[in-house]
Amino acid sequence: MRPVVPTPFWGPDFAALASTDPEIAEVLLGEVDRLRGGLQLIASENLTSPAVLAALGSTLSNKYAEGYPGARYYGGCAQVDIAEELARTRATELFGADHANVQPHSGASANLAAYAAFCEPGDVVLAMDLKQGGHLTHGSKVNFSGRWFEPVSYGVDRGSELIDYDQVRHLARTHQPRMIVAGATAYPRLIDFAAFREIADEVGAILMVDAAHFIGLVAGGVIPSPVPHADIVTATTHKVLRGPRGGMILCRAQHAKAVDKAVFPFTQGGPLMHAVAAKAVAFKEAAAPEYTEYTRKVVNNARALAAGLVAEGMRAVSGGTDTHLALLDVRPLGITGAEAEARCDAARITLNKNAVPFDPAPPMVASGIRIGSPSVTTQGMGESEMAEIARLIGRAVRGSADNSAEVSAEVAAAVTELVATQPAYQRD
Ligand SMILES: Cc1ncc(COP(=O)(O)O)c(C=O)c1O
Repeated sequence: MRPVVPTPFWGPDFAALASTDPEIAEVLLGEVDRLRGGLQLIASENLTSPAVLAALGSTLSNKYAEGYPGARYYGGCAQVDIAEELARTRATELFGADHANVQPHSGASANLAAYAAFCEPGDVVLAMDLKQGGHLTHGSKVNFSGRWFEPVSYGVDRGSELIDYDQVRHLARTHQPRMIVAGATAYPRLIDFAAFREIADEVGAILMVDAAHFIGLVAGGVIPSPVPHADIVTATTHKVLRGPRGGMILCRAQHAKAVDKAVFPFTQGGPLMHAVAAKAVAFKEAAAPEYTEYTRKVVNNARALAAGLVAEGMRAVSGGTDTHLALLDVRPLGITGAEAEARCDAARITLNKNAVPFDPAPPMVASGIRIGSPSVTTQGMGESEMAEIARLIGRAVRGSADNSAEVSAEVAAAVTELVATQPAYQRD
């Protein structure tokens, strides 16, 4: 029998969906089965709460609300105004920021708005190299950031694999960027925001921090905040922060108008008010003491998992992690990142291949994997489970072409046993 899925959906709504569109209802149930049946180690994913999912699945999705609270282009916005005001106030309080814009549809949309607020096409933007941990929106040629702006890239030091601040300073002096972007997609260490501020001030650049990955750890107070240092902080709400898929922007008071205009009407139309309401819920949840405790465990679990994988023969890029994610070089095991990802996938362990700094392999092959602890920590797992997960990953990736099906089945069975004790989402 199919599991009854109570919490992620309002009962009546799910019953309506099941009768109107059984195929999509099956997809939703199948996805819950996937979440419940395996280990989710994608560093950018999490398991949202029933309260966040309820707001997301609400009638606020119906409402057009172009504009901002109190200044909309549509009538009937009294309720959504309350939701957006709550989201903005909670965000500014949670992060100690002057101003928050909670309308960006995603992290990439937030970054587009940040560029639009401060830069003109052709301006030089100094940001982290995609191949060394940066994001597509940090100057990739296949993205608006590399097509419409003039990207200059910094990276990590070859020895320490930490951001090379001397290189950042040198490139800033040489290229005089309009904006410097700090923040990354695959960088496991703390970022020295004060150093970036100093460099930005020296060359008269705007400092943007893309906190998409780690904003949730900032909310929990377990890593330093970029807010006091940056002109603008962009973020996603769906990673460690455990809210709905979406973006947000925090900025200094003097930039509030420019940022709001850059989001609407420059880069977006009507906001997704159901998502805005769900962001408000997530900010409230993140202000609770249990969330701080959660983020502490997220970091400890990432460290434990990385240490366990090193014990399995992998190499931790930069020697470890200070955050929710770690990068492991799998070459010492004689395999590629793609092979590691596929073998883990066959054993119900979901993670992603990832380039390591100075990786000679193409991105679709890659020499490493990226692991993250947000989801398994939400499930209630701790450091002893991380040690077990590391052993399971080690077993899964060491399978050879001859015995891979057998090894995958064995590891998958152990994974099933492990997740049964702390499942993602409860049955009724
Ligand atoms: C550093 C960084 N910025 C921006 C984004 C884009 O976020 P989204 O996928 O919500 O557009 C990501 C996504 O992983 C990211 O890691």
